[in-house]
Formats: sequence, structure tokens, C-alpha cells
Amino acid sequence: MNALVANSRLEGFYKLSREERLKLIADLCNLTEEETNTLGNPGEVDLGTLEHMIENVVGFMPIPVGIATNFRINGKDYLIPMATEEPSVVAAASNAAKGAREMGGFKADATDPVMIGQIQLVGVKNPDAAMEKIAGKKGDLIAEGNSVDPLLVKLGGGMRDVLSRKIKTNSGEMVIVHILVDVRDAMGANAVNTMAEKLAPTLEKITGGKARLKILSNLAMHRLGRSSATWSKEFLGGEEVVDGIIEAYSFAAADIYRCATHNKGIMNGISSVALATGNDTRALEAGAHSFACLHGTYQPLTQWRKGEGGNLVGTIELPIAVGLIGGATKSHAVARTNLKIIGVESSTEFAMVLASVGLAQNLAAIRALAAEGIQKGHMRLHARNIAISAGAPPEIVDKVAEKMVAEGKIRMDRAQEIIEELKR
Ligand code: MEV
Repeated sequence: MNALVANSRLEGFYKLSREERLKLIADLCNLTEEETNTLGNPGEVDLGTLEHMIENVVGFMPIPVGIATNFRINGKDYLIPMATEEPSVVAAASNAAKGAREMGGFKADATDPVMIGQIQLVGVKNPDAAMEKIAGKKGDLIAEGNSVDPLLVKLGGGMRDVLSRKIKTNSGEMVIVHILVDVRDAMGANAVNTMAEKLAPTLEKITGGKARLKILSNLAMHRLGRSSATWSKEFLGGEEVVDGIIEAYSFAAADIYRCATHNKGIMNGISSVALATGNDTRALEAGAHSFACLHGTYQPLTQWRKGEGGNLVGTIELPIAVGLIGGATKSHAVARTNLKIIGVESSTEFAMVLASVGLAQNLAAIRALAAEGIQKGHMRLHARNIAISAGAPPEIVDKVAEKMVAEGKIRMDRAQEIIEELKR
């Protein structure tokens, strides 16, 4: 059962202890005792499963999972687990979601979950004639592709189209065939790669060429997630901050160096949720960045403009290839639990959530950059980490951090001194 949370606006959530937060999330999301333990105690994680996920395993790499609060998307509330090593990401997403919520929340949508598989044909004597033949055999090719995955077809997915084009390369002209496959709630790599491999011999026969690569494309341009939201100028800190955000967006649209960082900020959010749910973060990153330069120049994945009353309106659109079934999403107990917490029912709903998280993350970053600068917030969180590393017990972590920030001395030696002073 997926969780359906009535209200993700958890005021003061960050002030609770970790145990209290976990208990609250477990209650709100109906987690079983086992799920709660797996999420809360890394020692409970099934190491046997982890050990067999990859090769040559020698150890495990725990990454904290934080819950982003306040998200309301298409009228539904979500609590969103994020796994990241980077401080500020969870707090920033939650804060931006709070602002969006005040103005009605995110409005999101997504296309059908259609992935692209590529089959590379080399040595085709007459590419134009070959492409015509492929088009003529489309029905047969779709039937053959679907024959390898009857379950997917039963679930309403399956191959939708076959397209081909010729490209000029350093190794001569090639015919590239794209198969478009609706993969439903899977990420889809397995389904698409199997179909591509199945069709390769048939395509060789049709074209007289040799099929080399048969693999999905991470530029999942038919599988898009979109979201938009409004933030009031009061929430953002006034008209000047709104102008600053729009100037930040113009900067990214005109300058590839800035745009890389702008888009990185978006992926801070999306990849963290993807990692928390056992999804392929690299596939998402590759898809996002290649989509960002689909039209020849590398562009921001978000757009920002001034709306009614001088408020800020943001939109995002990007390929989002994520699954709820298969791979680590099912085999990894923490990923499974995190998916339950998010409570999405389909991969398209998940894409809407991820697009909204990306938009929120970008807003938070460029708002901070356009207003007080990023370091203030970062430093506060960095100071907490230093305080913890210096051995501050949980009840004085915030005090130690605040003192270091106030003094402008965020260092291990100073943290240790303050801890001693407070203990005395
Ligand atoms: C840091 O991880 C992300 C930011 O650099 C994003 C941005 O500059 O927009 C803050």
C-alpha cells in the first residue's frame, strides 16, 4: 500500500530528534515496524541483498535520508525522502515547497512513460530504401518486439512506434532505428534493451546491414515531467529579489558556465529522490543535460517570469525516466520504504513529483543567490556538521553551531572549546 498523507506541512519537523521524526513519518505513512526499522537503523538493512547487488563488494556506504516536507502537487500532499551527502538540499526544497504551497502548490503533468531504444545499423548499401522498408514493416516489427514482453503489453504498455533516420559519422553513414516503448511503471532499460536485441536480426534482414549497438537512449525525450508553481514576492523577500531571480535565470540562459550550475541545482533535488528510491541517478542526469541542449545550445531546464502582482512564476520540463518496479526499487528495503513514503501510484505521478522537487530546488538556490548569497545557509548547516563531528551531544549541537556562526569561526577546534564551555 502506498502512503497517502493528509498534510505534508509539518511545522517544526526539523526541530524534532531523529527518532521523533522517524516515528512521525512512520505514523503518517503507515510504515510497518520492519519498514521503520530498516529506514531508521542501518544495522537492520539486509546486508545479504546489498552484497549481491553489485560485484566485488567489500562494504557499504550509508548516506543520510531526510524528508522534504510541505509539498502539495496537483492538490495532493507528499512527504519526499531525499538521500544526499549535501547539506541544505532537504531544507531548501522544503522551504521552497512551503512558499509554493501558500500559492496553491505545484501544478504538474507528465507524458506517457515512453522510452527510446536505439539499434545502430552499419554497412547499409541504400539507406533511403532501407528506411522505407523499415517503415513498411512497422506493424510486424512492433508485434515482434511486443512478443518478448507479454506482461508489459497486458499492463497497457508495449512498443508504440518504430522510426529510422540516417546519420553521417566518422565511420561512414549509418541507419539508426528508434523503437518507442511504453514501459509503464518500470524505468524500462531492461524491457527496451531486450526488445532492441530481439529486433536486431530482423532489421539486418530487412536492410542488409549489420546491427551493432542495441541499447536504450537516456535522452528520454518522450518521457517528460513538467511542473509549475508561483511564489509570492513577499515570501521571496520583495520585488528586488524577484528581479534578481529573473536576472539569475537570464544569466543561465545566456551563459553555459552558469547554466551548468543552475541545472546542477535542479538535479540536487531530483537525483536525491532518485537515489533514495533506488532509481538510476546517472540515467536521469544524462537525460536532463542532453535535453537541456536539444536545440543546439545548453539551456536552463527551468523558466522564470514575473506573473500577476509581481509574483514569481516558475516552470520546469525535463525527461524523467524513473520506475516503481524492478531493480533496486524493489530489492533494496530502504528504497522500497522510501517509495511507500512518497506514495505515488505510477511512474508518471512519480515524474510529476520529481519535476516539482527540481523546480523547488532551483527556486531555493537562485533565491538565496539573488538575495543573501548561498553561504549563509550553508554555513549554518556546515557548522552543525562540524559541531557533531567535534562530539557535541544532540542537545547542544544547535547551540554550538549558532555560537560558531555568530563568531564567524566554524572550525573543529573552536567547536571543541565551545562544547567544553557548555558542559562546564
Ligand atoms: C549547489 O550544490 C547548487 C547551487 O550551486 C545551484 C545554483 O547555483 O543554482 C547552489
